[in-house]
Amino acid sequence: MPVHPPEPFRIKMVEPIRLIPREARETALQRAGYNLFHLKAEEVFIDLLTDSGTGAMSQAQWAAMMQGDESYAGARSFYRLVDTVQAIFGFRYVLPTHQGRAAENILTAVLLKPGQYVPSNTHFDTTQANIRARGGIPVDLVIDEAHDPQSDHPFKGNMDIAKLRAFIERVGPENIPFGMLTITNNSVGGQPVSMENIRQVAQVYRAYGIPFFIDACRFAENAYFIQQREPGYREKSLLDIAREMFSYADGATMSAKKDGIVNIGGFLAMNDEDLYRRACAEAVVREGFPTYGGLAGRDMEAIAVGLWEALDPDYMAYRVGQVTYLHARLQEEGVPVLSPPGGHAVYLDAKALLPHIPQSQFPAQALTVELYREGGIRGVEIGSVMFAHPDPETGEMRYPALELVRLAVPRRTYTQSHLDYVARVAGQVARQRERIRGYRIVEAPPLLRHFLARFEPVERTA
Ligand code: F0G
Repeated sequence: MPVHPPEPFRIKMVEPIRLIPREARETALQRAGYNLFHLKAEEVFIDLLTDSGTGAMSQAQWAAMMQGDESYAGARSFYRLVDTVQAIFGFRYVLPTHQGRAAENILTAVLLKPGQYVPSNTHFDTTQANIRARGGIPVDLVIDEAHDPQSDHPFKGNMDIAKLRAFIERVGPENIPFGMLTITNNSVGGQPVSMENIRQVAQVYRAYGIPFFIDACRFAENAYFIQQREPGYREKSLLDIAREMFSYADGATMSAKKDGIVNIGGFLAMNDEDLYRRACAEAVVREGFPTYGGLAGRDMEAIAVGLWEALDPDYMAYRVGQVTYLHARLQEEGVPVLSPPGGHAVYLDAKALLPHIPQSQFPAQALTVELYREGGIRGVEIGSVMFAHPDPETGEMRYPALELVRLAVPRRTYTQSHLDYVARVAGQVARQRERIRGYRIVEAPPLLRHFLARFEPVERTA
């Protein structure tokens, strides 16, 4: 039996959740057009849609919120946030934003011109969208192992350094206003990036004079993987590892909804003074005055506390332990999963589980529906609904290599018995796999269709 370290906290406020009856779940599915984004959260029993903004704050965070300074300019809470970010990330300038994508928006607004490229290991979809919205071209250069669901590479989120160099040589460094690296690499399974890789990426960018920004959402989880897996780091604290990671970069975008353990918030941090000035000018128009950005004073207080809590070794051993536990329990139940597990989520391999459903009938979508129907569990499709697109030249449909369902684990929210329940339900679904049918899209917008699409079951699969 796999185990994980006990929760390093006890519970003093509870939020009731309820499994609604099977017929009610069936009605909800029909009303939602078989898209779990259209469910009411109250129709969901265990909500694993995302780990973003869904965590539980600590008593220290709630207490700090009471001390929020809501001054329009120069609030004490802003300086608390700045002190914390400087202590952990080491960057000189900090601009609070309402969440991660707002930091991406400001960064692309001040640095990117149409037709320019921004490389990364793998951009998250909001980063991609922000780059495209400014006429830029996002480029993913992750190592090949990332696309193999069974490769046990310890740092599957790494950038392919040879590909990065070749890419810069091909398009020319003058066409790359900044380069990025996402830690952990969410889009390929929450996989970590090694310190060695961060160092090498920084060297390459520096050699070509390209500013280097880290997408830092899950920086503490990444630091933990470095501590556990990379030679020479076992004795270092998560704080020391975090400081070293960011010492190689010129700045960072942060969604504090992840490793800030808050329900809303983020920031853009950097060392360059001129860039900070321009970012402030952009922030004033879109987010707010630079000492509050998109946030209330109390939100900045909660982030300042949460960032430290994410670096607590007991918290992190429990946190990543919980995800590892869910992964092991799913395997025990015979559910195919992406291995090794990442820091914030377990990814079910729908292609392996439902080989009788062709990609044109959305096997991962079918699996999300079945997890909800069977046990009121909400995961998210990361497969053909999200990524399939017609080839711009031939018009022929192009399908992604993987059909995944992400079960993201909110921070400090669910207990081991919740995760046991999830594994049992998924096991039950796996045992009835032959009965599961595919879906067809009845209506969908052209962009980011996974949020709004509506589906209906196909009668018989090919
Ligand atoms: N970068 C990464 C790696 C992310 O995972 C996210 C959000 C963002 C940037 C954007 O941050 O939501 O605060 O604007 N990821 C969430 C998820 C939505 O479910 O993985 P945001």
